[in-house]
Amino acid sequence: MKDDARKFAPAATRNRAAILDVLGPWLPSRGRLLEIASGSGEHTMHFAAAHPAVTFQPSDPDPTNRASIDAWASHLGLANVKRALDIDATTTFAPVTAADVVVSINMIHIAPWDATVGLVRNAATVLTAGGFLLLYGPYRWNGAHTAPSNEAFDQSLKASDPAWGVRDLEAVIALAGDAGFGTPDVVEMPANNLSVIFRRA
Ligand SMILES: C[S@@+](CC[C@H](N)C(=O)[O-])C[C@H]1O[C@@H](n2cnc3c(N)ncnc32)[C@H](O)[C@@H]1O
Repeated sequence: MKDDARKFAPAATRNRAAILDVLGPWLPSRGRLLEIASGSGEHTMHFAAAHPAVTFQPSDPDPTNRASIDAWASHLGLANVKRALDIDATTTFAPVTAADVVVSINMIHIAPWDATVGLVRNAATVLTAGGFLLLYGPYRWNGAHTAPSNEAFDQSLKASDPAWGVRDLEAVIALAGDAGFGTPDVVEMPANNLSVIFRRA
């Protein structure tokens, strides 16, 4: 279809069920979930279809991704998915001022470190009491990559942009601590990824 802006991300198709398995039990029965760096929008759609009483606010700084997200929501007729917002994590989550959950999947290694700093600080600002921030992706952990494939991925990221790279989990935890989050729950995921869940006190 000529005007169908939907994108198809194979990785999202592969990992969305495993992420929902982790996310689902944490989700409030009702509430607002803000996704940062929604990409194609397929994660939001998958989660929103499974949790119709939760309102999903996707976002991405890339206009072609926002078009994809909106096209997916329209195609699937999901009433609990709002129009995608133009949010760059580095700056501010405006116009969003409050959310019960903030999720970001596979963003922090494909953006400069400042994006992680902004993501964590802005999440701390908008999250309601008892809310949480879920980060999903590859990490170095205890000073080492968790798999040779992640090390190769890290090198390819840095070759694309020296400001990118697989982050140290401990550095992200320290950042989150400065923003008022406690020790996260860490869940090992398929393909050497981690889900990291920071609860807002
Ligand atoms: C590898 S894609 C992941 C997309 C989607 N979350 C997924 O897992 O399929 C990285 C995404 O991060 C977004 N991104 C990059 N820098 C960002 C920033 N500073 N703030 C918010 N999103 C950003 C890109 O536009 C892109 O959609």
